[in-house]
Amino acid sequence: MAEILTANETDIARAGTLLRAGELVAVPTETVYGLAANAFCEIAVRNIFSAKGRPFIDPLIVHVHSAEQVAELADVSHPFFKKLADAFWPGPLTLVLPKKDRVPAIVTAGEPTVAVRMPAHPLMREILRAAGVPLAAPSANPFGYVSPTTAQHVQDSLGERIPTIVDGGACACGVESTIVFVADEPRLLRPGVITRENLEAVLGVPVATEKGHLEKLADDATAGAQLAPGMLKKHYSPRIPVKLFAHGAFPQIECAGCAVVFQARKNPEILAKLPAGTQCFWLSEDGDAAEVARTVFALLRRLDGENFSSVFIEKAPDSGIGVAVNDRLSRAAN
Ligand code: TXA
Ligand code: MG
Repeated sequence: MAEILTANETDIARAGTLLRAGELVAVPTETVYGLAANAFCEIAVRNIFSAKGRPFIDPLIVHVHSAEQVAELADVSHPFFKKLADAFWPGPLTLVLPKKDRVPAIVTAGEPTVAVRMPAHPLMREILRAAGVPLAAPSANPFGYVSPTTAQHVQDSLGERIPTIVDGGACACGVESTIVFVADEPRLLRPGVITRENLEAVLGVPVATEKGHLEKLADDATAGAQLAPGMLKKHYSPRIPVKLFAHGAFPQIECAGCAVVFQARKNPEILAKLPAGTQCFWLSEDGDAAEVARTVFALLRRLDGENFSSVFIEKAPDSGIGVAVNDRLSRAAN
């Protein structure tokens, strides 16, 4: 099992030393836990891919502490970069920018761009400061499984494969960062708690939605052949079969031993109409979108640990943060 460090000075200094020396350390961020390594150390970055079972064609996000660090990694001259960084950093937003030569090709999967994020989690910021180098960090889960939102989640699914986890409590956002390709026509590559509307309000131009890097590769036969069959479809997936139903609808359940997950608390009369033996859960008392995002991965992991035959999940309203929740749910259901 991995050793768990906490938010005291000694442990933070130790995490920084380990990272600088090329060790892997799982770290808390406001979105999900990351599996971090010194972004300038190729061997360390390679170890991230092996610990996660991640294909080398899937590039990593590099986390920074300061504006100076961003400029070491990427061309920051596009005016939209400054607008977005000023508005949302530190925070749950990743910006894809032209990369500088210093960034090892393994980090960006050979792409001419690098994904950069300045996280807001106070402990993550202290770890970045202690490490003194930018940290490449994907979500700290085995490739294709549900992202971790607590240190225990990381311990449960990667504890045998990594030496150290820093415990920073439960993640405040609960879904991975919003990813934006910075260009004259900016593109949203992954929805998150910073919404398309938030981005458009700051940029003053429309932000088109585009498929993510891996999904595009999967469409490309040559690159797709490097991926094991089903590797992408099962992204974010628990082992238990997941089926979705429309927001506000009532699930059609025939099988026994199912779980049903609603967005908000349901009253007992509604629940009484479900087949006997069905267990019910909700993601938020009142369907609050931010709370749903914060709790959805933890509930998927919990249900995966129990013996349900399948789980039926109500979709979120398809707007605002609900777009990010539905994106993750539809992948879990694939
Ligand atoms: O919230 C988050 O973003 C978390 C925390 C740890 O920061 N990290 C995270 O990393 O979710 P990961 O590796 O699970 O997802 C990163 C995504 C990948 O799907 C990858 O394809 C995309 O970012 N990405 C990375 N570099 C890219 C690039 N140069 N161009 C396009 N997409 C890129
Ligand atoms: Mg991930």
